[in-house]
Amino acid sequence: MTVDPLPPVIGHRGACGHAPENTIASIRKAAEFGARWVEFDTKLSRDGHIIVFHDDRVERTTDGTGRVADMDLSALKVLDAGGWYSKGFRGEPIPTLAEAMAVLAELGLGGNVEIKPSPGREAETGRAVALALARDWPKNLPRPLISSFSPESLAAAAEAAPGIPRALLVLKFPKDWRRRLRELDCQALHCLNRRLTPLRARALNEAGYAIRVFTVNNRRRGARLFGWGVQGVITNYPERMLSLVE
Ligand code: G3P
Ligand code: MG
Repeated sequence: MTVDPLPPVIGHRGACGHAPENTIASIRKAAEFGARWVEFDTKLSRDGHIIVFHDDRVERTTDGTGRVADMDLSALKVLDAGGWYSKGFRGEPIPTLAEAMAVLAELGLGGNVEIKPSPGREAETGRAVALALARDWPKNLPRPLISSFSPESLAAAAEAAPGIPRALLVLKFPKDWRRRLRELDCQALHCLNRRLTPLRARALNEAGYAIRVFTVNNRRRGARLFGWGVQGVITNYPERMLSLVE
């Protein structure tokens, strides 16, 4: 199995320690703070457009109310996705995947595109995101890495665009990780920070998989994880982790 050579530090939701998560401003901050790749979340509007957004509902990170899956792109686009974070980001919109790809191309940033489906839209979202990436991913960038907590989304992505590599996201370390990674033909496991142990990291590496950890914001923890052989950390503060690997 080939494992794509991602850099060891990946900005989380852009660089969401410095700007409102999953916005163009956040992606720009990641580049400003030295990241070469960013992770961001993707889901579908009611009318089938792919947006960069984390939650199933809009309340936490916008001035709107309701479920993303019930809203058309036109309704999502008028929301303020920056003002909740600070006044300086007021008016920052929810980006589409196409808009995120354009800024990645401009900045030369790689992308770990998480598929974050609204409930019931797992396969549809996986397929749509994978097809959009296969069709429109900027030619000047390394190929993206798709990740998801949803096996259904990953399977649909694999079917739609088998050439785009995948990573399985987990909140609990699965006993049957070998079977799950093999069945979904993933090249990496992306694991919740506190669930990783040195033994688990070693077992994954020995089996030929990359192991990356989210969300790592503490330098000492980052140093420990790199000591265990992890290939990458996903962080809200890229600059804290970069000093460990430069
Ligand atoms: O992809 C890593 C991480 O983003 C997964 O969790 O909830 O922050 O999307 P979450
Ligand atoms: Mg995510």
